[in-house]
Amino acid sequence: MSKTKTIYICQNCGYKSPKWLGKCPDCGSWNSLVEEIISDSHISSTIDLSLDKKILPQELASLETESEDRIKTGIKELDRVLGGGLVRSSTILLAGEPGIGKSTLLLQMLFALSKTLGNVLYISGEESVSQIKLRAIRLGKIPKGLWVVSENQLEIIEAIIKKLSPSIIAIDSIQTMSVKDLNSAPGSISQVRESSSRLIKIAKDLNIPVIMVGHVTKGGEIAGPRVLEHMVDVVLYFEGERYHAFRILRGIKNRFGATFEIGVFEMSDTGLKEVGNPSEILMGAREDNVSGSVILPIVQGTRPILVEIQALVSPSHLTMPRRTTTGFDVNRLAMLLAVAERHLRIVFYDADVFINVVGGIKIQGTEADLAVISALISSLKDVPIKKDTAIFGEVGLTGEIRALSKTQLRIDEASRIGIKRIILPYASSKGLKAPPNTELVFIRHIKELRRVI
Ligand code: TYD
Ligand code: MG
Repeated sequence: MSKTKTIYICQNCGYKSPKWLGKCPDCGSWNSLVEEIISDSHISSTIDLSLDKKILPQELASLETESEDRIKTGIKELDRVLGGGLVRSSTILLAGEPGIGKSTLLLQMLFALSKTLGNVLYISGEESVSQIKLRAIRLGKIPKGLWVVSENQLEIIEAIIKKLSPSIIAIDSIQTMSVKDLNSAPGSISQVRESSSRLIKIAKDLNIPVIMVGHVTKGGEIAGPRVLEHMVDVVLYFEGERYHAFRILRGIKNRFGATFEIGVFEMSDTGLKEVGNPSEILMGAREDNVSGSVILPIVQGTRPILVEIQALVSPSHLTMPRRTTTGFDVNRLAMLLAVAERHLRIVFYDADVFINVVGGIKIQGTEADLAVISALISSLKDVPIKKDTAIFGEVGLTGEIRALSKTQLRIDEASRIGIKRIILPYASSKGLKAPPNTELVFIRHIKELRRVI
């Protein structure tokens, strides 16, 4: 193995320094020096291309393709997000906040895979083997062929992998791994980058999947270099509100499948349970005839889910009334409040406003606009919206209602769960099939809400 050294390079002008400096002496920018690795091995020009066929360029058109060979994890919700299973020699980054259930998900996956693949290896840099065992006991009968090691030095890990030759490796977490030649602490940019590039090489060399856990910072970014996301093949985020049972696994990047698919899990006292029918569970917990609650069909990837949007509008004694949201963008709420004030002649400036998406689901984009406004009106006037009514649509600044994608999917899911009346954008009325016993109410402007809810 070649010896590695580090150097600090200004990301602005390229100035090099052997030590870290707060200010670049060359271009004067602050905090722009980043640690980078230089390796003293150099490309030898004496390579004989004729010896190794593999390194020659090949004509794409005449390449033989291998039939797609995916390893099913046995956890349906996970396979869905992966695009049908794990691809051999791929690297997967599983990111999420502490305590969300990353280690648990990995262990459960290895439980299932050890039955079909034989030896699988779980490497933890965070927990001792006895702690891992305690967790594993909660998850059920421990299968044979699941090997664990508590280690964070990459050279040792490489040796272990060589000896065991497992058919899949899970690293928990990449931020705790370190390479001996580098002096910086585990979790630093150069350690994370070097450790992950070595693990990626292992995946390619042994033709097995390697899964790495990545911690995220408070801001929701993966700690360590952004480059980690570029290096791996698949990036999955495991998210949810900590005190809600639902955990959502979301594909952010996938070289082998669609992104934006989600998997839904529920944390129980015997590990993560798959939730194949989130709509039923979310609707089952709903109270009847309360004001401020609206059913909204959202679509995540190819999957429609019915969620409940709750609003609470209450008189405020603050000079700056509160606007608080869970699972919904607070800036989007501010915009919707302004649109409602202007076009519906109702006021919120003297009220605290709270929005909650039930079940720990996060809503992105504009699909909840009309439902949020309806919930706000319902709470403000203290008039419940019927429990068999669902509402969806995007709202523009002039109060107009715009179409959303995948309208039919939303309607069908709502009808399946027993919704009898759906309020939706007029703009998407063409070519829709109304399911039996379901009334579709098309509206063009939020002014029409008064008449229909
Ligand atoms: P963990 O997988 O350790 O999270 P992460 O690796 O993302 O930090 O699990 C987090 C929480 O889940 C922890 O607070 C304990 C809880 N838990 C259960 O509720 N049931 C279980 O069966 C297990 C294993 C954990
Ligand atoms: Mg963990």
